[in-house]
Amino acid sequence: MFAPVYFDYNATTPVLDEVREAMLPYFSQRFGNASSRHEYGRAARLAVDTARERVAAAIGAHPTEVVFTSGGSESNNLFIKGAAGCMSPGGIAISAIEHPCVREPARALARRGWTLREIAVDAAGTVVADDFAAAIAAKPGIVSIMLANNETGVIQDLAELAQRAKPSRAWFHSDAVQAFGKIPVEFRRLNAAGVHGLTISSHKIGGPKGAAALVVDKRVELEPLIAGGGHERGLRSGTENVPAIVGFGVACELAAARVADGTSRLLELRARLESGLAAQGAAIFGFGAERLPNTVYFAMAGIDGETLVGQMDRAGYAIASGAACSSANPEASHVLLAMGVAPDLARGAVRISLGPESTVAMVDDFLAVLNEKLRHLRGLAALAA
Ligand SMILES: Cc1ncc(COP(=O)(O)O)c(C=O)c1O
Repeated sequence: MFAPVYFDYNATTPVLDEVREAMLPYFSQRFGNASSRHEYGRAARLAVDTARERVAAAIGAHPTEVVFTSGGSESNNLFIKGAAGCMSPGGIAISAIEHPCVREPARALARRGWTLREIAVDAAGTVVADDFAAAIAAKPGIVSIMLANNETGVIQDLAELAQRAKPSRAWFHSDAVQAFGKIPVEFRRLNAAGVHGLTISSHKIGGPKGAAALVVDKRVELEPLIAGGGHERGLRSGTENVPAIVGFGVACELAAARVADGTSRLLELRARLESGLAAQGAAIFGFGAERLPNTVYFAMAGIDGETLVGQMDRAGYAIASGAACSSANPEASHVLLAMGVAPDLARGAVRISLGPESTVAMVDDFLAVLNEKLRHLRGLAALAA
C-alpha cells in the first residue's frame, strides 16, 4: 500500500508494537470473559485489573478512580449526562472551543431545561478570565473545560480555573484527550485544585481504538449511560473489551515514559515547521499561547484548507483541515470563529500534528512540496481573478 507521511497524530495514532504484542493473547488463548469464575475469566480479570493500575499510575490517580469506557466521546458524555442525571436542572458552563462530544451533550441538557453558558476565549484561544468568572458567579452545577484543544493545541491553565471555580461547588470536568501523552497530566494535583473528572483516550497515545477512561473523583455521583450487569462499579455495564483495555494500559505506561523523557525533540521540529510555514505566508493560530508540542494549525490567505489538504494528500502527506471529527462538515471551525478569526481565513485552516515517528527530513520535504503546491494554487487564483 502507498504509505503517505503521517502528520495527523491528533486524529489517531498507530498502535505501538509493544501494545499490539501485549494485546494478542487476549484475542486467542486468553479470550475469557472477565466476569467468569473459571481460569479463563480469572486471567481476563487479572489483565483488566493490571491495565487499570497502569492507567492510574500514568495519570496519577488511584485505580478505583478509573472507569473504562469505549472512547473519549463516551467518557465525556458519561461525566456530563451522568452528573446531570443525578441533579435537578441547573447551569452548565463549557468553553466555546470544546470538542463536539462535550458541546453536544451540553446542548442536549439545554434542551431539557438546563442553562448552557459557553465561555469565551481570546484571540490566542485561551479562556477569558472575566467571562469565566461571570459563568462561575452564576453557580453552575457542571463545568467542563478542555485541557488542550484538538485543533490549535492551546493549553488552558486548568488548575487555576478549577481553583477559581471552587466557590460555585460545581462538578468540574476536563477533556484531557489531546493533552494526555503529550504533556504531563497529574489527576491528584488537578483534583486537589478542584478538578473532579478527566477524560483520556487510548487511540490518541499509541493504543487501540475502543478503549478510554473517565478518571473520576468518587464523590461525583453519576448515572450510568449503560445500565446492566454492574461492570465498572456500576458506572458502565457491558462485558469488558479486554484486548483493547490491555493495550490501553500498556500505551499509558509508554506515554508516561515518553512525556517524562521530555518534549524538546518535538518542540524543535515544531519550530522548524512553523518558521518554514511563516516564510511561505502562513498565519499560525494560537501562536502566542502555550500549546501542545506536536500541533501546528495554520492558514494561507486565499487558499482553501480542504483543497490544500487534498493536494498534499495526493503528494503523499496525511494532514487535516480543521478537526478530523468534523471534516465532513465544510463549515469554518467553531474553535477559530470563537478566537475571532475571520470566516474566510478560518476556511483555510490546516492542522499538522507530529508524533514520535516524525523526522526533520519529513518536515523539510513537506515544506518543499507545500511551497510547490502553493505556487500552483496561487497561480490558479491569479488566473481566475
Ligand atoms: C479533544 C477531544 N476530545 C474527545 C475526542 C473523542 O475521543 P474518541 O475518539 O476516543 O471518542 C477527541 C477525538 O478527536 C478529541 O480530540
